Amino acid sequence: MPQSPIGIFDSGVGGLTVCRAIADLLPQENIIYFGDTARFPYGTRSQETIIKYSREITKYLISKGVKMVVIACNTASAAALDTLRKEFDIPIIGVIESGARAACKRLKGDTVGVIATRATVNSCSYERAIHNLDASIDVIQNQATLFVSITEEGFIDTEISRLAAKEYIEEIYNSGVRTLILGCTHFPLLKKTINDVYPDMDLVDTGIEIALEVKNILVERKLENKKNDDLGNVELFASDTTETLKRLKKVFFFKNGTEIKKVILNG
Ligand code: DGL
Repeated sequence: MPQSPIGIFDSGVGGLTVCRAIADLLPQENIIYFGDTARFPYGTRSQETIIKYSREITKYLISKGVKMVVIACNTASAAALDTLRKEFDIPIIGVIESGARAACKRLKGDTVGVIATRATVNSCSYERAIHNLDASIDVIQNQATLFVSITEEGFIDTEISRLAAKEYIEEIYNSGVRTLILGCTHFPLLKKTINDVYPDMDLVDTGIEIALEVKNILVERKLENKKNDDLGNVELFASDTTETLKRLKKVFFFKNGTEIKKVILNG
């Protein structure tokens, strides 16, 4: 069991930021990553559809023998975490809870800011998770959907990304917020851009936070892969593979990793 892989899934390649954070913190662990590139994006879909897709992927990861499932996608964590936890009996964690916990711990002032996709914002999941921890904290959210395309198109450190940062964050910043949750897999790639525009904004990278949570769970349940002297094996799967995907793999994962293999889910 300790040598079994950690399963990670996302709506596409954005979750590779989470995969990288976990691989960096737990280099000896084997990892299986699944990106649902054929049905990307999730951020504009209904909760019912996102639950259906997330269930299919979880079944697939369990069929590959994973010891736990990490929902790297904020949108899928918001929509499907509770349902998946009821339906499957291996540990399943999502980025929302760990992001909320870290923001509350690091909070400057009395309000947490959140930027995310429309589906995540509309679900109010971050707000709920924060209020479960401390009901006195205010939460102000904004959707920042364009950040997804900006990162995927490679406009990461450009005038376009800085203008979008102003558009999405100005109101939050002007209301006094100095702790901002990056509530989408793609947004950690824009940390430098956002801090160029708002240098005193503390940015909560949910990928780093969930990596710490994965480590705690593995230690608690004695599931760490201690036997592996080498680097763990990182296998990447996607529901569709294109030339763009190869480019994005470099943008999001940097490490060599394996080639992304195509898998067709059969429900
Ligand atoms: N992975 C999604 C998230 O973290 C962003 C992209 C999408 O809309 O699917 O919310």
